[in-house]
Amino acid sequence: MYTLGIETSCDETSCAVLKNQHEVLSNIISSSLFRHKPYGGIVPEIASRHSLEQIDTVLKEALDEAKIKITDIDLIAVTSGPGLIGSLLVGVSFAKALAMQLKKPIVGVNHLEAHLSACFIGKPETEKYVGLLISGGHSMITYQEKAKISVLGSTIDDAIGEAYDKVAKILGLGYPGGPIMDKLAKEGNPKAFQFTRPKQKGEFDFSFSGIKTAVLYEVQKLKGEKPSDQFVKDMAASFQHTVIRWVTDKSLAAAQEKNVKLLVVGGGVSANSYLRELLPAEGKKIGIDVWFPEFKMSLDNAAMIARRGWEIYKAGHRDTLALSGTPSLKVGV
Ligand code: KG4
Ligand code: ZN
Repeated sequence: MYTLGIETSCDETSCAVLKNQHEVLSNIISSSLFRHKPYGGIVPEIASRHSLEQIDTVLKEALDEAKIKITDIDLIAVTSGPGLIGSLLVGVSFAKALAMQLKKPIVGVNHLEAHLSACFIGKPETEKYVGLLISGGHSMITYQEKAKISVLGSTIDDAIGEAYDKVAKILGLGYPGGPIMDKLAKEGNPKAFQFTRPKQKGEFDFSFSGIKTAVLYEVQKLKGEKPSDQFVKDMAASFQHTVIRWVTDKSLAAAQEKNVKLLVVGGGVSANSYLRELLPAEGKKIGIDVWFPEFKMSLDNAAMIARRGWEIYKAGHRDTLALSGTPSLKVGV
């Protein structure tokens, strides 16, 4: 069975071909990031226009690399949310036109659920697990049992990736800040600055805006002087160690509370090098396996959409041509 995945929820335009549930035959990604960089963040209109210009070419490349024809596709899986409405509509309209012309089934996929599904490509099915979803727009801990997903906790303010991006901006670094800070953190002293852990009502909720403000105060203490390279490296290391420790401790505590032996991690921040080192090591101490997606599937891509689409299709889910984009689509509904 061939599933065509289509992802256009933000700044990436991606098409992928998945054979059955494990074999990624192609996963082509065209990013518009270079067009947003001068603005220090994503400009929705630029993102959707880029997707509209690129999607035909990206599909053709995905089919060529997979060495199949469009008529060989058995299922079309497209991101229907959450994301930017203009971008979502490009992918959804494109997918619906294909489904109509080819007379093939179509399923709308939740982008966040797909980030977790990326971990299961090439891995055995598992009935029960806790998920840690950390991206530029979301931070949440989920629990999945027999295809049913529930949310155990989420951020009450900024998402973790958003906090990385905002702190990078305060430090005068580029966009997106996560990968840049991750690199600089390796050369800094993680104990140079101390940050206190905020308290939230929910046991598995997060808050990242306080630490961002704490960084701002430290920079303001310099009274307009440009932070030195060492200051920036030390701040990146201190910030990284603090937030990665929080998500490590909370997600493992959730896995223990739910009595599961598997924690899967998804979303752009799952590319973080310190998280990839710390979380499996801490999990091992308490008998919890930690799975990350393959590095190239940590960031937004269509292979994860195809995989999630395949999962929900097998579970009996179908959509019609009335499918639309839902910018604030919730997990587990
Ligand atoms: O999932 P994603 O590609 O897009 C969203 O759906 O948000 O995540 C992008 C986010 C950005 O905030 C980026 O700074 C962050 O992931 N990110 C990282 C790293 N690589 C990307 N954050 C920390 N460390 C990284 N290595
Ligand atoms: Zn994402």
